[in-house]
Amino acid sequence: MAEFILDVNGAQLHVNAPADESLLSVLRNRLNLTGTKYGCGEGQCGACTVLLDGRATRSCLVAVSSAVNTKIFTIEGLEQNGKLSAVQQAFLDEGAFQCGYCTPGMILSATSLLHRTHNPTEEQIVEAMNGNLCRCGTYPRIVAAVKRAARLMPAKGASR
Ligand code: FES
Ligand code: FES
Repeated sequence: MAEFILDVNGAQLHVNAPADESLLSVLRNRLNLTGTKYGCGEGQCGACTVLLDGRATRSCLVAVSSAVNTKIFTIEGLEQNGKLSAVQQAFLDEGAFQCGYCTPGMILSATSLLHRTHNPTEEQIVEAMNGNLCRCGTYPRIVAAVKRAARLMPAKGASR
């Protein structure tokens, strides 16, 4: 066990964990941030996606020791002052989920895409979201939600 200080959703959090424990496990089981989901545990489904320095990252594949000195954002960190992020609001408005298990990862992948590409084409959206699997098959609505979020987000300075 070692102590790590993680920058999670803008807060400095102290946690004790084995250095090779996955960030996913630390978030869910030690920090009680259960919005990040466990799907396959081997980088194939995207359910565990979080932002590391703004990049969509599979937290099941990242050791907690590698996440030190990065800015980690989970689904719990997107809403600010009671207001959903543009991507969260767009997913709600488009009804882009059924069971919702894939939704946190989808929203964080979409957030990462829209930080890089303000007005993505449908092809760019599909490519960026390709590694996030939805067992319920809500892909058309997810694509519609990302397009809606692009319209909602300010062109510059969108941080979440
Ligand atoms: S749980 Fe990480 S990619 Fe599936
Ligand atoms: S909404 Fe059920 S897995 Fe995507």
